Amino acid sequence: MTATMKTEAYAKVNFTLEVFGVRGDGYHALRSIVAPISLSDTIEISPANELSSDAGYHDDLVLKAALAFNHDAGASIHIDKRIPVGGGLGGGSADAAAVLLALNELWALGHSPEELAEIGAKIGSDVPALVLAQHYRSSVVMEGRGEKVSLVEQNGRTLDPLNLVLVNPGVHTSTREVYARSAVRDDDAPSATDRCREALETGEIGIISETFMNDLAPAALALHPEIADAMAALRAEGATGVTMSGSGSTAFGLVESHSRAQEIALALRDRGLVAWAVHTLGQDMV
Ligand code: C5P
Repeated sequence: MTATMKTEAYAKVNFTLEVFGVRGDGYHALRSIVAPISLSDTIEISPANELSSDAGYHDDLVLKAALAFNHDAGASIHIDKRIPVGGGLGGGSADAAAVLLALNELWALGHSPEELAEIGAKIGSDVPALVLAQHYRSSVVMEGRGEKVSLVEQNGRTLDPLNLVLVNPGVHTSTREVYARSAVRDDDAPSATDRCREALETGEIGIISETFMNDLAPAALALHPEIADAMAALRAEGATGVTMSGSGSTAFGLVESHSRAQEIALALRDRGLVAWAVHTLGQDMV
């Protein structure tokens, strides 16, 4: 490695998140559509003798990612953090996924994205989905604890980016507590995740937001009513499919255009809320 490398670690929202029973390893089985979005941390990797990171809260995941290769080389990893921590947007996992993708190139390790996703499963539940979502700039279906991942196939077509508004109510949810308090599904009936995948694959933008849902939302909203307030604010501005991402606390909804997303984000910020206008990543854009 000779020069400093810069890369973006893109956050995600969960369009759907269905929770099934507890597995033998204590984790819940999930089905979820994970969509990469245009909110990112910037990661700079420089040559160094030792491995180090200034990620602070995310130190663990970023260093775990670098160490996962068992490669005898150093690197100094600097993270410019914009994704809120503990917001259900996969910030720490996005950083870990981007570090896996970047070091695989810098150290010329030759792993495929699918192999990197498998390595990522040892780092965190969301890491495999974010490796594929970031590399292919595509939504991903995530199953099991998060280790079973497959791309939403666009069949050669590029879906226009979907415009979203995010609101972070500034409360920290405990992922463990939210899972523990959530009701679980006991069947394997055709589901919102199937319908969402189909809508994305066929480009039926009109019905995509009708499929948005999150089984963790009732428990998270009961613990933190601020999330319900954020969702109500988005609905009042005309966003559709309003739901929560991951185990919270960020709420989001779909709007018809990027300019409308920006208007709504500005209006919500004027009211003191932390809001972003973002879009889903596509293959043609950053
Ligand atoms: O994967 P992560 O460390 O973020 O998970 C935190 C906690 O959330 C776990 O200890 C577990 O209690 C719960 N969890 C779960 N099933 C999942 C993911 C997380 O029960 N699939």
